[in-house]
Amino acid sequence: MKAGRGSFFPRPAQNTFFTATNERKNALLLQPRETLSRIVRTTPTGGRNDRAVLQCDKRCVMKARLMADKTLPFDETRIREIISEFPTPFHIYDETAIRENARRLNAAFDWCDGFQEHFAVKANPNPHLIKILKEEGFGADCSSLAELILCERVGLTGEHVWFSSNDTPAGEFVKAKQMGAVINLDDISHIDFLEQHAGLPELVCLRYNPGPLRDGNVIIGDPQQSKYGLTREQLFEAYRLLKEKGVTRFGLHTMVVSNELQTESFVETARMLFELVVEVANTVDVRIEMVNLGGGIGIPYRPEDEPVDLEKVGQGVRDVYDQLIRPADLHPLRVVMENGRMVTGPFGYLVTEAIHHKQTYKNYVGVDACMVNLMRPAMYGAYHHITVLGKEQEAANVTVDVVGSLCENNDKFAIDRSLPQVDTGDILVIHDAGAHGHSMGFQYNGKLRSAELLLKSDGSVEQIRRAETLDDYFATLDFSQL
Ligand SMILES: Cc1ncc(COP(=O)(O)O)c(C=O)c1O
Repeated sequence: MKAGRGSFFPRPAQNTFFTATNERKNALLLQPRETLSRIVRTTPTGGRNDRAVLQCDKRCVMKARLMADKTLPFDETRIREIISEFPTPFHIYDETAIRENARRLNAAFDWCDGFQEHFAVKANPNPHLIKILKEEGFGADCSSLAELILCERVGLTGEHVWFSSNDTPAGEFVKAKQMGAVINLDDISHIDFLEQHAGLPELVCLRYNPGPLRDGNVIIGDPQQSKYGLTREQLFEAYRLLKEKGVTRFGLHTMVVSNELQTESFVETARMLFELVVEVANTVDVRIEMVNLGGGIGIPYRPEDEPVDLEKVGQGVRDVYDQLIRPADLHPLRVVMENGRMVTGPFGYLVTEAIHHKQTYKNYVGVDACMVNLMRPAMYGAYHHITVLGKEQEAANVTVDVVGSLCENNDKFAIDRSLPQVDTGDILVIHDAGAHGHSMGFQYNGKLRSAELLLKSDGSVEQIRRAETLDDYFATLDFSQL
């Protein structure tokens, strides 16, 4: 099915019946889910028109359910109040939703003693968000010196922090060791490198790349083409070597999918790692005490996508744990994860104003954000849903490209998107921008990184990162000798 609001229903010009029922559709879209189910159950089906109404209602209900998952934690009036203080573009994050989602993930794994989600800091390295997550019991997963220091400054240290880097500079290992972080090695040669530069800690984790044994997924690609992790043979050799060198505590990690929506994929990853835990115990007599299933839980970027059922993931992992780990007498084994996207992604919104219209071979809406604020559409052709504030109930009968001002033709938030008529001054909200959004920003073309706001649980708004200024942009240049 073609994505985007309005694509679900035939155009009025092609089917006048739907024109007549357009108001009904809009009314249905406003109903809560329970009411919608009742409407479908009770609509009479005697005449041809009744049947058509029922059919339309069913479609509307489905659509409404899907659309219901793309709601906003603010309306136009509130966002315009916020804009009067903090100019667009900005990212705004919903604290309540972040906390609720974090609790749901924790609850899904509450069967496992010591379960901890280590938020992948690269997804959103804002200390205010990391502090909120810390309060919910999360740790962090870092991959650079800056991310380590950021966590330290939020008070996250020790084994609450994982350090999963690759091609790692020596200084980063030194810092990770000094913080007592769980060091996750990306290569067998890093054992000697770590020993030489930082000394081996008592606990070392290894990142496994299953190569041909797993398919990866469309986004992360084929594991055999991936630069990360140790092969199966290297893994056994590395545990042997670590043990020889006096390491006493061991972990195992993998990251084989990204933005994955299939529950089964995470259960399969757990199965693969649990089988390895058993095999490593049997062959090299190393007792692995913690397993990191990686991140990669996907989010429903498109309204019609089904979100991952976290409870099913938790239960599925528990089942394979019971099948493999308990009978091998390897219980307790800590299970942890390092998701980024699913933790903050759906709860962050990029808010931008329409500032230009252009009609050439296509229709363009120019907004005041650009790909430095959110580069996923340009980089991966990723879909991000867009709401035109105040026009949620209007027909999406205009097809446009929504573009930014960067001198790159891929600086487009949406291509051929059906939206309601967008007027200059309209506020557009780009959904699911809370992870791998602001954090991927850059300054190419003299563009400045925008502000980040927190919509707090008490309804107030706090600026948690100010927008960059031209002074920031020029700060690293010396004009004095010119
Ligand atoms: C090692 C590692 N862990 C975790 C993540 C987080 O992935 P996601 O945000 O898809 O959950 C990434 C993403 O790049 C990663 O490279």
